Order: sequence, then C-alpha cells, then structure tokens
Amino acid sequence: MSAPVQENWSSRAAFIFAAVGSAVGLGNIWRFPYITGENGGSAFILIYIAFVIFIGWPVLVAELAIGRRGKMSPIRSMEKVSVESGGSKNWKWVGALGSFGGGLGLLSFYSVIAGWVLAYIIKAATGMFTGVTGGAAEVIRDEHFADTGMMVFWHLAFISLTIYIVGRGINAGLEKAVTYLMPVLFLILLVLLGYGIAEGDMNAAVTFLFTPDFSKINMSVALTALGQAFFSLSLTVGTMLAYGSYLQKDMSIPKSAGIIAAADTGIALIAGLAIFPLVFQYGLTPAEGPSLIFTTLPIAFGQMTGGVIFGSLFFVLLAVAAITSSISLLEPAVAYFVEKQGFGRWKACFFAGGAAFLIGLLSVFSFNIWTDVMPLSFLGIEVINGNPATFYTIIDFTVSNIIMPVGGLMIAIFTGWFVTRAAMRDELDLPEGGLFSLWHILVRYVCPVALIIVIVWGLMP
Ligand code: PFF
Repeated sequence: MSAPVQENWSSRAAFIFAAVGSAVGLGNIWRFPYITGENGGSAFILIYIAFVIFIGWPVLVAELAIGRRGKMSPIRSMEKVSVESGGSKNWKWVGALGSFGGGLGLLSFYSVIAGWVLAYIIKAATGMFTGVTGGAAEVIRDEHFADTGMMVFWHLAFISLTIYIVGRGINAGLEKAVTYLMPVLFLILLVLLGYGIAEGDMNAAVTFLFTPDFSKINMSVALTALGQAFFSLSLTVGTMLAYGSYLQKDMSIPKSAGIIAAADTGIALIAGLAIFPLVFQYGLTPAEGPSLIFTTLPIAFGQMTGGVIFGSLFFVLLAVAAITSSISLLEPAVAYFVEKQGFGRWKACFFAGGAAFLIGLLSVFSFNIWTDVMPLSFLGIEVINGNPATFYTIIDFTVSNIIMPVGGLMIAIFTGWFVTRAAMRDELDLPEGGLFSLWHILVRYVCPVALIIVIVWGLMP
C-alpha cells in the first residue's frame, strides 16, 4: 500500500539550500570549468546561460510544480498529476526512468569521482603535490587509478555517507546536512576566489571567461552546453520532483527556480574565476579535459605559497559540493521504496544505495582492471565521444546523453501538452498571461524542439 509523502522542508531557506546544494556539485566545480576550457571559454558560457534561462528554468519549474502537486515520490507524482488531468498512468515510467536509470545510474559513478576527491583531500593535505611537475601529477593520478582496493574503499566511504544522511530523513538528514554544508561551501569558494585574486593571474582568467569569441560556437558546443545545463540544474533524474514534493504550498515556484538557477550558474562562474587564475599563473593550459582538476590544479597548488592548505581546501570544497548533490540522487529511489514497497527509510537507503555502489564498481574497474574491457564491442562500439567505451564511459553517456535529454523532453511534453493549464496555473499561483504564458510557451514549444534537436544530434555517430 502506498502512503503520501509525509515530511516537508521546515523552512523556505531549507528548501533553497537543499535545491542549490543539489544543483551545485561536481558539475559546477569539476565539469563546468573544463568543458568551458574545451569549448572556447566565453562563447560557451554565453550559450550555456541562454540554455539555463530558456530551457533549464522552465523544466525546473515544471518538475518542482509536478512534485508539489503530486506530493508523492517522483514516480507516483507523475502518475497522480497525469490522472488528475485525465491522462495515462504510464507517465509514471518517466519518473521511474529518472529515479532509477538517471538517479541511481548517475549516483553510481558520481560516487566514484567523489571518492577520488576524498582521496585527493588527503594527498593534498599531506603535501604530496608540493613541487610536482606535469609528469609527477600524472603518476600520482595513475597510481590512484591502479589501486583498485583504494578506489573501492573511497567509493564505499562516499556512498556510505550519502546513505547515512538520506537515511535520517528529510528534516534530520538532508535538511540538516545542507544547512551546515552550504555555508561552508560558499565560504571556501570565496576564500579560494580571494586566493586566486592574490596569487593567480586573474586578468588572464577574466579574459578567457568573458571575452566572447563567436567563431567557437557550433552545433556540438551548443549540445554540450545544453547537456551541462540539465546536469548542473539536477534535472530529469527525479531529484527536483522529489524536492518539490516536500515543498510548502505558499512558496513561489517560479521565483525559487529563478534563485536556484541563478545561484547554480553564479557558483559555476565563481568556480571558474577561482580555478583559472591558478592555471594561467603557471602557464598551464585550460583545455585539459577532466584532468584539469586532478592533474593541472595539483601542479598549480604544488608551486604556490600556501598550496597545501588551499589545495586541501579546494578538494574539501569539491567533496562538500558532491555530498549535497549525491543525497539528492539517492532520495527519489528511496522515496519510491518507502512509499510503494513499504520499506523503512533505512532499508530503502541500503537497498538503493547498495545498488548504486555495486553498479559503481563497474566504473571503478573501468579505471584499472577493466580498462581494456569494451562491453559494447560486440556491436562494434569501441569509442564513445572520443573516449574508450569502457563501462564508465557507457554509463556516463547513457545517463548524460540519453536518459537526461529524453527525460527532459518527456517532462516538457508532459507538462506542456498533457497536464491542464488550469492545474499548472493553480500550482504556480500565477494568473493567465504574463509570466505564466511565457513559461508555458517555453515548456510547450521551445524545450521540446530544442531537446529533439539535441537528442537526434547527440545520438548521431
Ligand atoms: N547538479 C549536480 C552537479 O552539477 O554536479 C549533479 C546532479 C545532482 C545531477 C543531482 C542530477 C541530480 F539529481
């Protein structure tokens, strides 16, 4: 039997902290700067911001509204809101794809990278990076990869922490964690920004981030920007549906979504402004791909005064950002198990978190004992987006390039075409016309068209 979702956020601030905490994660501090570096800096940022406003914001509003209207787990909320509008129960499958395929799938490798971050806090704090050169930083990284046991350990440590917080519930777990951790995150970020200003080449960073070079914009850059916007705003994987279901009635969803999107984007930019001055100061190149954080920055920290302290702080920042996101990845599946299967919260957490841990092992092994295992080679797929098609690459690609855009498309179509206007107007507490019409046009037309282009393009060889 199913029970309605019980707990609510205890205050507006708690909800905003939780949602911003979910949005701000490895995506902002690890992924955004290197994707920006790879895609021509400022030009990329401009389209990214346009996508956040015109596609991210409307889908975020839609998810929060469906969640709050349904007041149940993401899966049941989709079903309930659909039935209320006279639609099919099958929309629940969109919630299921998000919560399980998206949420747990993403958590599985998010935790592996976050575990890598935890390991790097210790490496930075014990002075392992002091004086390292490019080659030495790569050796440290490769040694980390080669140590399967350690990678499993850190992955397990991170997932356990996630389970611990989510197991304690919305108020005593998620909300309490973000209330402590988000101020810490802002503080560290500001300290690191100050450090970048004092010790790094801020002029070069600002030029790189904010001088538009439109020649760099092409279709593939646009697609990357859109994918990053969805990823960064925690869309389509059940998270915002779940967080919306714990939201009080009197809180404005359009405004909250605006605050969340602005904070998320602002923090990504500040992260760029904290990282790039250090990169440029030492003549390193920004287009280092994922290694920007794990090889380039350690070199920079290894050369600077106070590098041990600030380097450690940087990895603590990443870890804090990751944990406030990972809890939101686990919550949708947990909410479902509690509600539908009648599991206690702890049991649901061990079950869902355990599944994410086990799937995550595939990603761990992709970095060491299975670097040569290409599970799709029987289909002739050995490379995906220029990377060897290991389990890690495949799971990342499936979640980020298939489940997220397809989920977003479904949410937009559902909200724009299947849920009645009256229901959404009521939930958003907006009169017909003005902001409501603008939002409705965006979810009904703009988002589906843009997403179809992304999906078709993204899946083309
Ligand atoms: N928004 C997170 C980040 O930028 O790292 C990633 C994420 C968290 C995506 C939670 C989806 C989600 F539900």
